[in-house]
This record gives sequence, structure tokens and C-alpha cells, in this order.
Amino acid sequence: MMTTTMTTTTKPSASGLTMRRAMTMTSSSMRGKAASVRVPHTRAARALRVCAGKEYSLTILPGDGIGPEIMKVALACMNEVGRKHDITFNFTEALVGGAAIDAHGTPLPDETLAQCKASDAVLLAAIGGYKWDSLPSAQRPEQGLLGLRAGLGVFANLRPANVLPQLIDASTLRREVVEGTDIMVVRELTGGIYFGKPKGFGVNEAGERIGFNTMVYSEPEVDRIAKVAFEIARKRQGRLCSVEKANVLEVSQLWKERVIKVHEDFKDVELSHMYVDNAAMQLIRRPTQFDTIVTGNIFGDILSDAASMLTGSIGMLPSAAIGLEGPGLYEPVHGSAPDIAGQDKANPLAQVLSAAMLLRYQFGEEAAAAQLEKAVNDVLDDGYRTGDIMQEGKTQVGCVKMGELLLEKLAK
Ligand code: IPM
Ligand code: MG
Repeated sequence: MMTTTMTTTTKPSASGLTMRRAMTMTSSSMRGKAASVRVPHTRAARALRVCAGKEYSLTILPGDGIGPEIMKVALACMNEVGRKHDITFNFTEALVGGAAIDAHGTPLPDETLAQCKASDAVLLAAIGGYKWDSLPSAQRPEQGLLGLRAGLGVFANLRPANVLPQLIDASTLRREVVEGTDIMVVRELTGGIYFGKPKGFGVNEAGERIGFNTMVYSEPEVDRIAKVAFEIARKRQGRLCSVEKANVLEVSQLWKERVIKVHEDFKDVELSHMYVDNAAMQLIRRPTQFDTIVTGNIFGDILSDAASMLTGSIGMLPSAAIGLEGPGLYEPVHGSAPDIAGQDKANPLAQVLSAAMLLRYQFGEEAAAAQLEKAVNDVLDDGYRTGDIMQEGKTQVGCVKMGELLLEKLAK
């Protein structure tokens, strides 16, 4: 089933302007060699467009598995809203993950990172698959994604999980538990145990083989993510819950200390603290108690997958990864679902909603973003569902058909 695979396989997964925009989020806002496929423009058409509207350059990373299928839908939708709102998107496709390993022997070719850095924003689908699962960790597709996040300096990962009324009964939890859930998980994305050193394999004193990683945060790393989270909470319901494991880990004690310190500048926001094990339980017990959550890299990885299931399917959730400046990285929370790749079964909605986040937070194109979100909403209202969110009495469609339905809505 799509949901399971998306979780267990890979996920994959700005300018100062972007950061400011992220901070104005409200709880009601829904919510290889780089294969260059620049859409051809005639000179006249281009000149006209430049005069008439705005133009943005985007690096497109379809990645692996269902990535290319869902990306196709998102790009078609973007072009359609672009047409409506007088915005031209120049898409340049590049390789990352398994696709880049196959073509170039590395999950993040230099030209891909350079292309991403040179663009206004990056839209990624998902990376990874069975084919590359047995490679040593340094050569796996996931390293491409981690390298991309680090290379772009996108340390703040915003993962909203809000329950859409149409999908309440698609959740594995009871309606009365999930109804009204509207959570923003702010996950630190370029530090913690994912990047800490030393790491590797070795042999302990008893002569036994070991594997090890280091969970480490510096004060400035905690401060900057805490600031982003407080700003976001301030624009939502004004409640921030910092999640760590300070009863055991020194790294968490420092985390908690700094969050309390940064709170001095955000006294209007209510701050609470929760151990990660309790947070995992509370998310399932009473998710509506949470507004904004701030947490480290690995805890955020785990909790955001858990939070996604409150909404019915991880196939619905978009995310934005932003830094202090430069292009942000926008990607669905789900993975590459290799078990259903190429079968026209994938749910493209999280990819489309990621494009909406890109339009809103990177470019401030609120109207275009809202139109994409409305199209998703309307198609769900009409009763169309992909397999992962299918319910009795609804009409099951594939990825391509879902894309066509969205385009019909957008064309209106
Ligand atoms: C995610 C994914 C990634 C992560 C993997 C694919 C490296 O699970 O974006 O949540 O762990 O960050
Ligand atoms: Mg994950």
C-alpha cells in the first residue's frame, strides 16, 4: 500500500524574503548531468511575457519511483495557474538520488547543486528505491537529499499536518480524535544526528563491530530554528511545544536551555516542553492539543510521519525547507513508493500542495498558491480519491486522471 511504502522508503522531501513569508503563516493558510528541458519560448513570446508578467526559474528534481509521475501533474498545474496569474515558470530539470546514481555514479552531481543554487526555488518529488538499497550509505540516494539540504542551507523544515474535512474518515484514528487537527511541525533539517561527527563503523574494546553516529547541536543552530518556530507560532495560535529528550540526552538539555532563552524575545508565545516519547503518544492520543512543534532533525523526521497519518494519508502532505536566504526546497513529506511506481496509482496531491507552498513562501504569489489549494479541495469535494485515501462511496482515480481533474478546476 502506498502509505506504508512512502513512509519506509525514502523521501524524498530562500531568500530573506522567504523566511519572512514563512513567518507570516497563519493557521488558516492551508494550508545527472542535469537534463536541461527548458520550455522553448520564441523570442517574441518571451519578450511579451517579460513585459506582461513575472518570470521565475525553478529547478525541478523528479527523482525516483513515483517522483516523475507526480511531478508531471504538479508542473502542469503550475503552468495553468501561471497562465491565469500572468507568471512564467522556467523549469530546468536535474538529476538527484537514484536517477543521478544511475547516470553519474553519485546521488548529487555538482551540476545539480549548482543548478539548484542558481534558481529561484527548487521543487523536488522523492528519491530512493529498492534498486539502490544495498549500496553503502555514503552512496545511497538519501545522501543526495541530505547533501542538497545542506548545500542549500535550508535548516528550517515546515511540515504542516492539517486534517481536511473531506478526509477525516480516511484517517486510521477516530473522527472525534482527529477533527480540528492543525499542526505545524518545524523540524531542524541540517544538523543533529543526521550530520553529526564522528560517525561510521568501527570495533569496540571487546573486539565487536560497531556502528555509531553523533547527535550534536550548537547554540546558534538551536537559536536560529527556535526563532523561526516562535515567529511561526506567533502567526498561528501562539503556542509552541519544543520536543526533545532532555531527561537523557545532553544535546537535548542544551536544546531546551536555548529554546527557553530565545523565548525571552517571544513572550507573547506560550512555550511548553515535551519529551519525544511522550510527544509521539500525545500526537495520537489528542492531536488537537498541538499548534506548532519545534524539534531536532531525527525527532522531526519521525513525528512528522506520525502527524501525517492523522490527516488520512502521508500522500497529502507538502513541506517547505528554507534557509535565511536563497532558494528553498519544496517537497512532499512522502517517499518514492517504488512498489507502485509507473502504475498510475500515486497520489499527486502532496506534490501539487508543495508547489503551492513554493508559490506562497518563496514568491509571495498568494493568489496562485490559493488557487492550487482550492483545486485540490474541489476535486476532493467532488469525491475523487487516489487509492491511498479511497473511501466507500468515492470515485477511485489514478495519478493521471487526478491531474486532469485538477487542470479542469484550474481552467475555470
Ligand atoms: C524525510 C525523509 C528523509 C529524511 C530521508 C529520505 C533521508 O525521511 O524527508 O522525512 O530522513 O529526512
Ligand atoms: Mg521522513
